[in-house]
Amino acid sequence: MILTLPTFQNKVDYWPGLIATYRPYLPVTDATPIVTLHEGNTPLIPVPTIAAQIGRQVEVFVKYDGLNPTGSFKDRGMTLAVSKAKESGSKAVICASTGNTSAAAAAYARRAGLHAFVIIPDGYVAMGKLAQALLYGAEVIAIQGNFDEALEIVRQVSEAYPVTLVNSVNPYRLEGQKTAAFEIVDTLGDAPDWLCIPVGNAGNITAYWRGFCQYHQHKRCQRRPQMMGFQAAGASPIVSGQIVECPETVATAIRIGNPANWEGAIAAQQDSGGKFTAVTDAEILAAYRMLAADEGIFCEPASAASVAGVLKIKEDVPTQATVVCVLTGNGLKDPEIALQQKTKRFYQGVAPDLDLVAQIMGLSH
Ligand code: F0G
Repeated sequence: MILTLPTFQNKVDYWPGLIATYRPYLPVTDATPIVTLHEGNTPLIPVPTIAAQIGRQVEVFVKYDGLNPTGSFKDRGMTLAVSKAKESGSKAVICASTGNTSAAAAAYARRAGLHAFVIIPDGYVAMGKLAQALLYGAEVIAIQGNFDEALEIVRQVSEAYPVTLVNSVNPYRLEGQKTAAFEIVDTLGDAPDWLCIPVGNAGNITAYWRGFCQYHQHKRCQRRPQMMGFQAAGASPIVSGQIVECPETVATAIRIGNPANWEGAIAAQQDSGGKFTAVTDAEILAAYRMLAADEGIFCEPASAASVAGVLKIKEDVPTQATVVCVLTGNGLKDPEIALQQKTKRFYQGVAPDLDLVAQIMGLSH
């Protein structure tokens, strides 16, 4: 029998990255050098176990943005921010970060041949994120202070020196990040009823809302979702309406007490008829474990806030609603928190003995 093997000589369709895909909606010109790692096009995954907990024929999906090239949604903003920085002739970028922004800034800046400087809160950045920033070749400055203090410093540096700020106060960041809303609509055929999202510096919720509004204006969707923002209880300034001086949460990515995009987040919530809710660390970690063990989806703790949130206010979810929870970062970013989760299924120091192993497996003759 003769097998016909594919030859791969024909051009294979591939995803060219966000800017090429959504170019008409983005502030780029022929003069913009596109810096891309082919980010975006992340899957929208049904999570039936979580949907079943809500009931009432609600459909729940997660937008798994942890599958971006550096493992978080920040790549969406960074492809555009770094492309525009390069276009403007900038030689260096700087950001403050709880980790993911620093990884993305470092990767895209180095790809563009720019220097990357990142300022992080010492001791509060998950191991995977720090490892990324260092290996991508950023200059990493760990300060004895929190994210809010780091952001203040990078704002000052970028005002005083020729270094481009790539935190979400850079307008191009949000322009890039809004494409996640486009992808959701392109996949579902319309906007969901609810968009559930973790909120830290509040850039992403602002960006999503902008994306849904823009697609709606261009008649790419019939409706816009209610924007449901979730903050960690120990770092929930938008929920309480007050700056939190010393934010604390296991979800270090959203350990932020004074969000830079506070007003954008409030506008998104009010214009969409949405809501802000705080979720405790215990609720975040329960959702984090549930996503992994029941759905096979490993996200980082901050990301699980969106799922913890929808479960917390499940009585408010309309019957037959379509809900999308944004999973902003990959679980591999923070292996320490994963290993701290008590599981009864880890048997260490076991002798290499068939009977013993079979016994542990619950098998017997
Ligand atoms: N989820 C993850 C995994 C994050 O890293 C962040 C923010 C958020 C959610 C919140 O998004 O700030 O737009 O409201 N991380 C920033 C950083 C602060 O430095 O990586 P936001």
